[in-house]
Amino acid sequence: MDIKELANVRLGPLEPLVARIYRYAKRLPIVKERLEAEYAPIMQELRKSAKPYADDVERHAALPAEGKPHAGILEEIRELERRETARWRDGYVSGAVYHGDPEHIAFLNQAYAITSQTNPLHSDLWPSIAKYEAEIVSMTANMLGSQQAKDAQVCGAVSSGGTESIMLAMRSYRDWARETKGITSPELVVPTTAHAAFDKSAQYFGIKLVKVPVGPDFRADVVAMKKAINRHTICVVGSAISFPHGVIDPIEELSELARKRGIGFHTDACLGGFILPWAEKLGYDIPAFDFRLPGVTSMSVDTHKYGYAAKGTSVVLYRNYDLRHYQYYKVADWPGGLYFSPTFAGSRPGALSAVCWAAMMSMGERGYIEATRDILETGATIREGIRAIPELKLLGDPLWVIAFGSDELDIYRIMDFMTKRSWNLNGLHKPPSVHLAVTLRHTKNGVADRFLEDLRAAVEHTKGHPTEEGGMAPVYGMANTVPIQGVVTDLLERYLDVLYEV
Ligand SMILES: Cc1ncc(COP(=O)(O)O)c(C=O)c1O
Repeated sequence: MDIKELANVRLGPLEPLVARIYRYAKRLPIVKERLEAEYAPIMQELRKSAKPYADDVERHAALPAEGKPHAGILEEIRELERRETARWRDGYVSGAVYHGDPEHIAFLNQAYAITSQTNPLHSDLWPSIAKYEAEIVSMTANMLGSQQAKDAQVCGAVSSGGTESIMLAMRSYRDWARETKGITSPELVVPTTAHAAFDKSAQYFGIKLVKVPVGPDFRADVVAMKKAINRHTICVVGSAISFPHGVIDPIEELSELARKRGIGFHTDACLGGFILPWAEKLGYDIPAFDFRLPGVTSMSVDTHKYGYAAKGTSVVLYRNYDLRHYQYYKVADWPGGLYFSPTFAGSRPGALSAVCWAAMMSMGERGYIEATRDILETGATIREGIRAIPELKLLGDPLWVIAFGSDELDIYRIMDFMTKRSWNLNGLHKPPSVHLAVTLRHTKNGVADRFLEDLRAAVEHTKGHPTEEGGMAPVYGMANTVPIQGVVTDLLERYLDVLYEV
């Protein structure tokens, strides 16, 4: 039996046992050899996409004996940058670069250049960075209902990205629950659509992750979530919006469940935090998802997505100072001196905070509202265009992160065709689907029409060539169907190894 045939095997409740046997068996030389042979063609495909410069760009495995002139080094960087920029600049990419206009980038780069030597670990040397970070947190909190939450002292910190914001909050809940409630076997209740960062938090911090299936509308199922809460639960999670399907979970109902139990509720607004408040102002029907709801005790909001800052910043917010204190690291008996830091990193790039502050100041409320209007209008065009293709179906009822699948065609082959036409869509699974996260790049003239035109061509092509070889379709197909998680995660491990190959 080869790996692809495994796709037809249904293990049901035996899966954990078989996964365990697989973990042991894969170390046996005979099994290892067989697996390597099975993985080889898949890895070859993955290597091709991960290492496009392997053949025609000089490699530097060791330091050059002598330092090279700046001009040559910059040219080397520019050459690779030239190969990579057109795709996102011309709007072929889902998410990834959320603003991307040349003047905006040049402005952010100036802010970076001015502050490139700063490090907020040394707050005495660079109090300016502490000022920027305090203001980033405050501006973000204001946008998310802190002023209307009369009982609250909404506060937070600047982190390196959505994943760090989420991990910081989850670790804070773990330590808060241990200290104030004596919970020593903590559990986190999340809808299956919650971002992988919650799974990562659970793995890193020894928290049991309880994943609850979502309803047919791809939103969290309140009744099922309620059933999953028990005396070990430290926090319940909802997304506004969710990464896979771009929908808003029933945050009000979920946060009330948590409030009544006296536990935490985290709204993950990494993707939606800088769009939904402005959508509401534009008259869209947006249910409350922020600190206006009394049960929301923390949020994650990404400045480096629709906040239009450079990559490397996000905001984690807490309803009160007490919770934030569990996030801080501090030590008083280290020979290196009194040491304290608010987030996971020690030294941090203050320049990224200056850039984030500059982005927010330059956008202002009006800038965010206009950007949101353009994105939501483009989202509607794309959504309706997909709805008009009979072979495709939309998943849920999204605004601007638009997921779609197909009952009759292999959606991953459609994705592969789109890749050949330069598009970069996000492959999703459970159920098999892909999404396009609409950014300001897609609001430019002709981009949405080009996307729909290529998508219609992809559907037609796939109808005529349903079993075409190559591309990522077999890998995604396998991830969707192979019943043993370990087989696919082993592939991911090998992929990460490939990334570090010189
Ligand atoms: C809803 C949601 N949460 C969390 C994250 C993680 O953010 P990051 O990639 O910045 O760590 C993402 C990223 O897309 C997201 O969409």
